[in-house]
Amino acid sequence: MARLPEVLAAITDASERELVSRAFDVSFKAYAPSSKFHVGAAVRTTKDIYVGCNVENASYGLTSCAERNAVFAAIGAEGGKIKIEAVAVYARSPGKLVKTASPCGACRQVLAEFGRDAVVTFLEGGQFRSMTVDQLLPAAFELY
Ligand code: THU
Repeated sequence: MARLPEVLAAITDASERELVSRAFDVSFKAYAPSSKFHVGAAVRTTKDIYVGCNVENASYGLTSCAERNAVFAAIGAEGGKIKIEAVAVYARSPGKLVKTASPCGACRQVLAEFGRDAVVTFLEGGQFRSMTVDQLLPAAFELY
């Protein structure tokens, strides 16, 4: 496995570092021949950690983001009643320095379904920052 970047080693909280480290590891599995933007996400539920990477397609609109793939893996393992407590996102691009990679709007809406209080850790300006899902997506859509 590749060496952990310094920015990751700088995270002092052990459980946050583990989650970001899982996101980092799975980013190497990404299938991103179009964008070359390799994203990994790790989701911690009340029971376990699940990971996902982005999967692109020759038909571009079919691309599936790392965050949603991680959430769907959690549901595949635990069923639909999961509670997400924390999420980490990491992105890399061979030959480039990725400084910022926050979850896209669609992924924020999916995360809101399973944990509005979940803490999301992501890259911004070359550092990790954390915000809750509610902070990332205020007034998320709710059905009834
Ligand atoms: N991507 C993610 O995996 N997560 C996001 O939150 C934003 C974007 C992926 C989709 C696509 O494969 C690549 O990053 C470039 O947009």
